[in-house]
Amino acid sequence: MKIEIVGAGVVGSAFGRALISQGANIQWVDSNPDRVQDLRNQGLHATLPDENADPCSLYFLCVQTPTIRGEQERTALRESLARVATLLRPELSPTVVIRSTILPGTSRDWAIPYIEHVSGLRRNEHFKFVYYPEFLREKHAAADASAPRIHLLGECEPGHGDAVAKILADIGGPVVRVSLEAAELQKYIHNNFNTLKIGFFNEMRRVAERLNLTAETEAIFSVTSQSAEGMWNPAYGTRDWGPVSGNCLPKDLEAFLSWMRSRDLVSPLLEGLSMSSSMESTKQNALPNLGKGSSSD
Ligand SMILES: NC(=O)c1ccc[n+]([C@@H]2O[C@H](COP(=O)([O-])OP(=O)(O)OC[C@H]3O[C@@H](n4cnc5c(N)ncnc54)[C@H](O)[C@@H]3O)[C@@H](O)[C@H]2O)c1
Repeated sequence: MKIEIVGAGVVGSAFGRALISQGANIQWVDSNPDRVQDLRNQGLHATLPDENADPCSLYFLCVQTPTIRGEQERTALRESLARVATLLRPELSPTVVIRSTILPGTSRDWAIPYIEHVSGLRRNEHFKFVYYPEFLREKHAAADASAPRIHLLGECEPGHGDAVAKILADIGGPVVRVSLEAAELQKYIHNNFNTLKIGFFNEMRRVAERLNLTAETEAIFSVTSQSAEGMWNPAYGTRDWGPVSGNCLPKDLEAFLSWMRSRDLVSPLLEGLSMSSSMESTKQNALPNLGKGSSSD
């Protein structure tokens, strides 16, 4: 089976090499001539988007999706989808797979209709569609791509991920299948959780500095990674057991926040957490108005 990878950057390059190591037949397509030449110099098969390419049964789109002025920019994705759409051959039972990070709803509301529009083909009947988020770490791209912890396949319809699951069996790692939207959302939950954790410890580091504890910060963070259940139990906090409760967590958050405010210490994350907890307790589904002139003023 011939596989095309569109975008030979961090993700596309590492993923394609991991597939090649399992014996897959990969052709890369990249709009950057230097990247294409680089791959060719290594004896790999790569082309520019306007060069002839063989129709494939699997297309993985790994192009960039930057955020520009707060909005996801989809030019690279649109261009690569347009090209792939013209190459689809229903007799090959093709599957189009997006690996780029895209916002919830993008696959079903935009990408699939766009492929149908350009190709004149119909989802399910002529082609399958999968959203398969990438979890690799940029600095460890090659190692992560060749030994992934887990794969998440968002399927347009049940069974659309079959061809992808088959090649992933060679790479290894558990495969979980969900809807398109669930997979799109999961990728943002994944990234935002990592951001939250880094941000939290950065804020706590500033507090420790103010208490002249810089020399001991590493030690207390290291102990926290052993003492806090949220660190050592991966399932902690992920089940729907209602708002933060118990004898300690709510009272200690409020006391610590008051203590910080009285010392002109700032923790936007803890302030937001306090707001989030009261929102959960009152079952509000939107954050309170933070601006001046809110109804409680
Ligand atoms: N870098 C990471 O660590 C990482 C991890 C997980 C997910 N992601 C996501 O994966 C996606 C790709 O990220 P990346 O870091 O590999 O990006 P990248 O910038 O390294 O690579 C993108 C490649 O796509 C090529 N390209 C752009 N438009 C094209 C087109 N029309 N046709 C063919 N090729 C085209 C570019 O020339 C470039 O080589 C993004 O959505 C990113 O958010 C990245």
